[in-house]
Amino acid sequence: MRTQVGIIGAGPAGLMLSHLLHRHGIDSVVLESRSREYVEHRLRAGVLEQGSVDLLRDTGLGARLDREGMRHEGIELRFDGESHRVPMTELTGRAITVYGQQEVVKDMIAARVAAGGTILFEAPADRLSGLDSAPVIHFRHQGRDEELHCDFVVGCDGYHGISRPTVPDGVLTTYERTYPFAWLGVLAAAPPAVEELIYAHHERGFALYSMRSPQISRLYLQVPADEDIADWPDERIWAELRTRLETVPNWTLNEGPVLEKSITPLRSLVVEPMQWQRLYLAGDAVHIVPPTGAKGMNLALADVALLGDAFAAWYADGSTDLLDGYSRTALRRVWRAQQFSWWMTSMLHRLNADDPYEAKLQSATLRYVTTSPAYATSLAENYVGLPEV
Ligand code: APR
Ligand code: PHB
Repeated sequence: MRTQVGIIGAGPAGLMLSHLLHRHGIDSVVLESRSREYVEHRLRAGVLEQGSVDLLRDTGLGARLDREGMRHEGIELRFDGESHRVPMTELTGRAITVYGQQEVVKDMIAARVAAGGTILFEAPADRLSGLDSAPVIHFRHQGRDEELHCDFVVGCDGYHGISRPTVPDGVLTTYERTYPFAWLGVLAAAPPAVEELIYAHHERGFALYSMRSPQISRLYLQVPADEDIADWPDERIWAELRTRLETVPNWTLNEGPVLEKSITPLRSLVVEPMQWQRLYLAGDAVHIVPPTGAKGMNLALADVALLGDAFAAWYADGSTDLLDGYSRTALRRVWRAQQFSWWMTSMLHRLNADDPYEAKLQSATLRYVTTSPAYATSLAENYVGLPEV
């Protein structure tokens, strides 16, 4: 099998890249280890920056997003028994859209299929070769060993993929931070009690109120990193959510049947550079952010927007400037998002129960960010996404 750009992974990064390349007349094949059903239903985050929404719209992927996505012009910060709105659109002129990542993935797959694009599901890549001149992706499909020959390989295969580990030792540098807590996430058949997201700082830990539709709420609780989901029956989850969220007068949570629950550890990670020979890396394969800043999917899309232009230039006239600059350019946004996600995480979570000084600092930061337009604008412009970094 032969194509121009071989893409590993059918998450937002790999699918969007394939879609962008198609629009430039460049042929690609996407290899995905899981089934279509699996990737279309995998529950992930759901906040799109203004720039991501614009990219999806401008490339013909905006129809259902415009119908079903929920545009939010502010977020609420809840702490010390008070509630404060950060008016993001008033401060920045831009907004976010709440639309589940798996919905974005469904729309991308539908567009690729309609355009006759090739996505092979249940086709795990297991090895790369020839990356210095004539790359080959070795993969399994329908019980057989197969080879995909291409001009370039793009690893969009997430942190546990095979692309990044292919790069020899000593080439890449990893920058990393782990946190001693995780998020317990719940999807519930309950109409959201509010129109905007609530980020709540509480002495028992952080809580987040989000949503997926007018009927479905998405809620999160900070829990210790080694927590077992078996210790969290639904009633305990609702009780803890009530404690952390019902902290302001006349406000109650809407409860409903729990449809799904899981625990995800929080982590910050960047691997540099994002390229080696003819292998380019994008999305979670090379950087992970804690979900507090809602940046994961947006960074994946921003990476491949750069790669789409870079490959277009190379195939048009052989120019290598954009390809050569890919890692350097992408890393500016990646590090901006790292800093913002780390800052949001540090401001909102219960960090160290034995350090009352830290808790006082957090309250002071929250108060400052909700009273100073300058500081609030800093939060807002990062949250809605900076056009240039
Ligand atoms: N061969 C083929 N596919 C693979 C392999 C492999 N060896 N290893 C992993 N994959 C697939 C995974 O099954 C997954 O579908 O690569 C895909 C990676 O997709 P995502 O994890 O969605 O990563 P990405 O596209 O970079 O999007 C980042 O996803 O994890 C969230 O918070 C993150 O929102 C962010 C987004
Ligand atoms: C979500 O809706 O899943 C969500 C929203 C905001 C975040 C993280 C997750 O910061």
